[in-house]
This record gives sequence, structure tokens and C-alpha cells, in this order.
Amino acid sequence: MTDKTMAMTSSEGNWDYPLIPGSVGPEVVDIRKFYGQTGMFTYDPGFTSTASCQSAITYIDGEKGILLHRGYPIDQLAENSTFMEVSYLLVHGELPKAKELDQFTYTISRHTMLHEQLSTFYRGFRRDAHPMAIMCGVVGALSAFYHDSTDITDPEQRMIATHRLIAKMPTIAAMAYKYSVGQPFMYPDNSVSYTGNFLRMTFGVPAEAYEVNPVIERAMRRIFILHADHEQNASTSTVRLAGSSGANPFACIAAGIACLWGPAHGGANEAALNMLREIARPENIPEYIARAKDKDDPFRLMGFGHRVYKNYDPRAKVMQQTAEEVLKELGISDPVLDTARELEQIALKDDYFIEKKLYPNVDFYSGVILNAIGFPTEMFTALFALARTVGWVAQWNEMISDPEQKIGRPRQLYVGATQRDYVEVGER
Ligand code: ACO
Repeated sequence: MTDKTMAMTSSEGNWDYPLIPGSVGPEVVDIRKFYGQTGMFTYDPGFTSTASCQSAITYIDGEKGILLHRGYPIDQLAENSTFMEVSYLLVHGELPKAKELDQFTYTISRHTMLHEQLSTFYRGFRRDAHPMAIMCGVVGALSAFYHDSTDITDPEQRMIATHRLIAKMPTIAAMAYKYSVGQPFMYPDNSVSYTGNFLRMTFGVPAEAYEVNPVIERAMRRIFILHADHEQNASTSTVRLAGSSGANPFACIAAGIACLWGPAHGGANEAALNMLREIARPENIPEYIARAKDKDDPFRLMGFGHRVYKNYDPRAKVMQQTAEEVLKELGISDPVLDTARELEQIALKDDYFIEKKLYPNVDFYSGVILNAIGFPTEMFTALFALARTVGWVAQWNEMISDPEQKIGRPRQLYVGATQRDYVEVGER
């Protein structure tokens, strides 16, 4: 807290509100006493000017295109670290020492299996169920199986729930895929990496040995790291809001999965690839650019634009580079990548996109990579959910341990009918 304040003046009076600095980034105006003092609410649909909490996990400078996890730039983490290291960093605040990393990796590997009875849940879904529908259901159902990690007032139980969620998500996502293609579920193999194990559970079959392709493994690892956390985005805020009531962690993460599914959020990777496929050829791009600019057409360029980034999304840069590498190393020539490259170039030179500061976001190239690896589009958002679980649990833990934590309860600007008397049905 500094002694700086912001003065507010209205016809009703004058008030001073303290300014609180962060370690970097904009200061916030502390309006916690605003309603008590003024009798008014602040109005901010979409929370474009509202900091809902304090957090030490992730920092974004949207104007400069900077993303830091616990201070470390995302491109350095994507290039040099493993997903286990990033998970430890997000949850515990520091990069692990070698021994800590070994212990953490070992602990996660001890939790990769699902309660056997959970596999019967899958059979209740139609074969064509969207994997995100299955993920919402199965992750929510974990609360019914792991009673020893749902007392959120106990830090030890919170950490067990954290480990379980990070460890079981690959198993849950891979089983959703296996169910949709009618292949037997694969049990986890703890002798391979977190990412390798996920690839094996997804693409391996019990009848044959599965060898993890290091190119694909590296790409997958980067994708997981790039999606691991993104401060107070819609799904993370959903997890925090759900958790603020004291709900159990598995239910809170299921709420985050539900929010992530939407095409304006995590569902954009699926929508972006579908759009690139629909565009099909570079010569069709101008038509789609025109549609994106037409106010009367709801069409938007999927994978473009971001609430916070008004510059190139730093994750999109790594993603683009990874897409080029994966396709080259796998010897795949995908016209969708040509369309994506061309679309990006045209949009970046177009006045509409320049003026509105619309740049490719993380979802623009991720679909191209996931498609090359062999994932069906419906699985894209499920992979995002898998990776983002680390951020969700880190943020959930931070919230529960915050002494200032309260149940999240926004107010509203009421614009409905004023008080009136009930009218009998025959007299209406
Ligand atoms: N294509 C065309 N125009 C766009 C796009 C786009 N992708 N994105 C924003 N705009 C325009 C809007 O029409 C609006 O124009 P206006 O001021 O003339 O009305 C202006 O840019 C601002 O857009 P908003 O919707 O007000 O911005 P907001 O911050 O609310 O939305 C969002 C951000 C949802 C990401 C938006 O850019 C979008 O819909 N993008 C496409 C979906 C997408 O890629 N989502 C993934 C986000 S990243 C993630 O969740 C991992």
C-alpha cells in the first residue's frame, strides 16, 4: 500500500480511495469500501477494468506481448523446461531443485491411475459425446471417489487433490478419446514422461508396444507448457469463484472445464482449425477477411484477437515455430498451414486488424500441430483443459490460502420491474 489515493467526486460527495501497487504492471484502486461509503456499485461487465484478486503466479503485459510465470518468460520455459517443472513452478512458486523435481515427478506418477470404477462412467456416455462433456462429468465425479482430499481447510489434503488432478487429467482425457474410437482404455505407464505417457494412453493399443516419437513428445510438451496458466481468464475466474464458496476441488475444476469449452475461450482452437479447413485455399482468404470485418456478419477470425493481448500473443509465436518444426520433421505437407500463414500475413497488414490490435492468439496454430499429431478436432479443447488444470489448481490453492479470501459475490445494476402486486391468473 502507498499513500497515493484516487479522489472521486460526485454530486453526492467526495471520497478518496487508496491505490495499491503491484510488483509490476498497473496499480489498482482499492474500492472495497466504495459501496459502504457511497451507496453505489461500480459497473464493469466483462471485468475489463476490474482486478478480482491479488496473485503472484502469472503476469501478462498485453500491450507488449509479455507473459511471465512466477517471473519467468513463457518462451524460456517452453524452450527449456519440462511440464513437470512448470507445474511445480506454478504450484510452489519456484523452479524445483533436482531433488524436488524428482520427488514431484514421482508423486505425480503415483496418482496417474483412475479408480477402476470410474471407467464404468464412460460407458454411460454416447460414443459420439464431445470429450469436453465427458471431462466435465468424469472430473466432477472424482469428488465422489477421493474423499480423503476434499477438506479444503487442510493444506495437506489440498496438495493431495492438486497432485491427483495434475496426474489424472491425462488418463481422463486419453480415456475420453479411446472411448470415442471404440478402443480399449490404456493404463498409465509411469516409466515414461508425463507427456509420453499421455501420448501412449491416447495412441497406443494393448496389443502392441508403443514407442514415443521424440518430435511429437517435444511438441506436446510445449503445447502443455504454453497452456498451463494465463492469470485471471474466464475459466480460472470460474474455478476461483466456484472455490470461493468452499466447494471441493474436483467440482471446481469441472466448473473450469465447462467454462473453457466455449468458442470464445478454449474452444477457439477447434473453431480455428475448422475455419482454416473451411477457407481451404489461400485464394478464398479475402472473402473471409471481408466477412470478419462486416458488422452485420457474426463471423470472426477464430484464433485472432484477445481480451488482454493488444500485440502478438507470445504463445502464438512459439506455437507457430512448433507447427513448422513438427510438420517438417514428420514430413507432412498440410495446406491448412499454408492457409494459416497466408491468412496471418493478410490480416496483419489489414487496417481493420491493425486498428483494433487483433493478432494471432495461442489457438491460431495449435490446431495445425494437434491435427498433424493425429488428434481429432474434438480433442483439442480437452488437451487445453488437461494443461490448464495445473494453472487452475495453482490459482485455487493461492485463493484458499489468501487471508483476504471471501466468497465471490458480484452485485448488479438492476433494470427490471419495480415492486408491483401479484395479479390472479384470470385477471392478467
Ligand atoms: N475477428 C474479427 N473481429 C474481431 C475479432 C476477430 N477474431 N476479435 C475482436 N474483433 C473486433 C470486434 O468485432 C470488436 O469490434 P468493434 O469494436 O467494432 O465492435 C473489437 O474487435 C473488440 O472485440 P471484443 O469482442 O469487444 O473484444 P473482447 O476482448 O471482448 O474479445 C475475444 C476477445 C473473445 C478473444 C475476441 O477477440 C474473439 O472473439 N476472438 C475469436 C475467438 C478466439 O480466438 N478466442 C480465443 C481467445 S484466447 C484463449 O481463450 C485461449
